[in-house]
Amino acid sequence: MAIIVKNEQQIEKMRVAGKLTADVLEMIAPHVKRGVTTDQLNQICHDFIVNEQKAIPAPLNYHGFPKSICTSLNHVICHGIPCDKKLKDGDIINIDITVIKDGFHGDSSAMFFVGKRSILAERLAQNALECLYLGIKMVKPGIHLGDIGHAIETHAHKARFSVVQEYCGHGIGEGFHEDPQVLHYGKPGTGPILKKGMTFTIEPMINAGKRHSRVLQDDWTVVTKDKSLSAQWEHTLLVTDTGVEVLTQRSDEVI
Ligand code: MF3
Ligand code: CO
Ligand code: CO
Repeated sequence: MAIIVKNEQQIEKMRVAGKLTADVLEMIAPHVKRGVTTDQLNQICHDFIVNEQKAIPAPLNYHGFPKSICTSLNHVICHGIPCDKKLKDGDIINIDITVIKDGFHGDSSAMFFVGKRSILAERLAQNALECLYLGIKMVKPGIHLGDIGHAIETHAHKARFSVVQEYCGHGIGEGFHEDPQVLHYGKPGTGPILKKGMTFTIEPMINAGKRHSRVLQDDWTVVTKDKSLSAQWEHTLLVTDTGVEVLTQRSDEVI
């Protein structure tokens, strides 16, 4: 499959979808607190996307995924399914939102803390955020995706954390997951070369322990094999003439 370079009309639709995605994460933030269930977070996001944004939550029924958002708690790496479990003091949770508006996708996720923050959880979430930001700052026409993967891997390893290899970022547009695969590890000078008009995500999954993952019986929930904590942040990006536009940047976010 080839990488789809977007034209100006398509990019404008990506901007709209990206903004809506960012708005959902901002909307849900104050609801993430002790005692709330991940099902309740799912319902609030679903209703907001469908009723307020007049948009579609992309995960719902995607390859059979049963809910409208992904909620990945503590040692869950990604694709956590909202359920009746209540958030408790000390939990960390990634909320991953993908919205379809006018045929185009926006995809973004963020970490939230419930109550007291352990030093490890804080360091891990901070390192994962730095990995995303340093990747974003490298984006411009002419660089290789391997340059980004290598920089992310190096930054995680410096903190003695590991990088999940089984899941990656992806091209995005009319498709949820388009080419290319955006690995969060790799060698400089390898992989696809970025061109103006490409749209893709960077979404590093960083583990406090070993990098290895396994999928639970529900066929979706991805956890760390060693049950260590995992953190992830994600943005949808556009390659511009001279650099990058972050299509899912939140209003309070400084990159
Ligand atoms: N939003 C995830 C990503 O960043 C994909 C979730 S697929 C689902 O690519 F089916 F689990 F929703
Ligand atoms: Co994604
Ligand atoms: Co996502």
